[in-house]
Amino acid sequence: MTAQTITIRDNRTNREVDFPIMHGSEGPDVVDISSLYKELNLFTYDPGFRSTASCQSRITFIDGEEGVLLYRGYPIEELVEKCDHLEVCYLLLNGELPSKKQGLEFKKTVAKHTMMHEQLLKLYNGYRRDAHPMAIVLGVVGALSAFYHDSLDIRDPRHRLISAFRIIAKMPTIAAAAYKYYTGQPFMYPRNDLGYAENFLYMLFAVPCEEYKVSPTLARALDRIMILHADHEQNASTSTVRLAGSSQANPFGAISAGVGSLWGPAHGGANEAVLKMLHTIGSCDRIPEFIKRAKDPNDPFRLMGFGHRVYKNYDPRAKILRQTAHEVLNEVGYGNEPLLHIALELEEFALRDEYFIRKKLYPNVDFYSGLILSAMGIPVNMFTVIFAVSRCIGWITQWNEMISSDEGIGRPRQLYVGHQRRSVPDAEQRG
Ligand code: ACO
Repeated sequence: MTAQTITIRDNRTNREVDFPIMHGSEGPDVVDISSLYKELNLFTYDPGFRSTASCQSRITFIDGEEGVLLYRGYPIEELVEKCDHLEVCYLLLNGELPSKKQGLEFKKTVAKHTMMHEQLLKLYNGYRRDAHPMAIVLGVVGALSAFYHDSLDIRDPRHRLISAFRIIAKMPTIAAAAYKYYTGQPFMYPRNDLGYAENFLYMLFAVPCEEYKVSPTLARALDRIMILHADHEQNASTSTVRLAGSSQANPFGAISAGVGSLWGPAHGGANEAVLKMLHTIGSCDRIPEFIKRAKDPNDPFRLMGFGHRVYKNYDPRAKILRQTAHEVLNEVGYGNEPLLHIALELEEFALRDEYFIRKKLYPNVDFYSGLILSAMGIPVNMFTVIFAVSRCIGWITQWNEMISSDEGIGRPRQLYVGHQRRSVPDAEQRG
């Protein structure tokens, strides 16, 4: 079979060049235009990367039209039912699910890395007490590069694996310490006899003066949230990690850049924004007023937790979390939580509204995750931190894939629309 191509004809010069079409295992084909500049002296223009595949990847597949999310080929709905978060971490990193023995070995190795260097703990004292925990996590993750730089040869797969273990194991500890810092409570050291989510809840909520027992329902719900947030192909923060790491920078520096990108309300900060919005709406009878505002092109208000760059259908993660929200709220006795009622009615209202139907705006993962975390007693400004803890496996796996692939440094070009060359006037001639 002859290779499929797309022909680009430059009307200015009448030159025609064929560009190869590449086929993935799922999803749309792509046209390889890497030689476009060499052949036609042209760049492509695609701000926001709406039609651009930035890399080849074997990790995660999304079908936004059908609402499908696969990690290494496995549907997210099945992974949530049959695996825990660390097994999913193993899957993402290694490409296959672990055997029982491999899973236990993996968990033992993660447990060996859960503590932070004591010197890192001192760093927290340099932050203002009212610092946003994302600001602290961003700084402390970057600071890991000062502790593990010397042993890191990023061309050595074993060194890269050790970095992966370190980031997976230390993220909950770093995040919990940020929470303890601003609440003024003593830092709790990790407990390696507990599961991953269980230990995280323990470090967040235990205090040294009394016994603390982690609720299995809450630990399972958090574990589920972590699985659902573990990776999401080339989103803004993951692309940030890959681009930052493409210069062969230290991986902790690259992941710290990813934390910064995740923080924004259009990305990981949305679950925080959802809860604030539900509080602002305050009661079900005000929903039509806010729906009207969301549809008004002259009003910057958007319905937070609705819409997604890729999903033009119900976000499959939101479906799972809708169910989890009910389980958690039942367990903690929030059966009549007013925000849940507002959320459910808002969702129903929006799904029936012509504007939201036409623009294919469905609830995304953040619509329910904030409600669940809030019911667990996690404060709103920790929501994006929980997302960062969950996503660190995706970031390190994608970084590892990028380093292994010899993609080279990522360096987009631009359409320059500024001044053409001009001379600098003397000081007295300016203004
Ligand atoms: N409420 C009201 N209108 C919306 C919303 C919304 N939540 N989302 C999109 N729209 C409208 C836009 O106004 C735009 O209308 P127009 O064509 O008349 O200008 C149209 O839908 C397309 O919106 P874009 O912003 O161009 O779509 P994009 O794919 O760039 O944005 C995004 C996706 C950023 C997620 C957007 O839907 C949004 O801001 N949602 C609210 C924030 C949110 O929930 N973010 C979480 C994303 S999930 C995650 O990061 C894990």
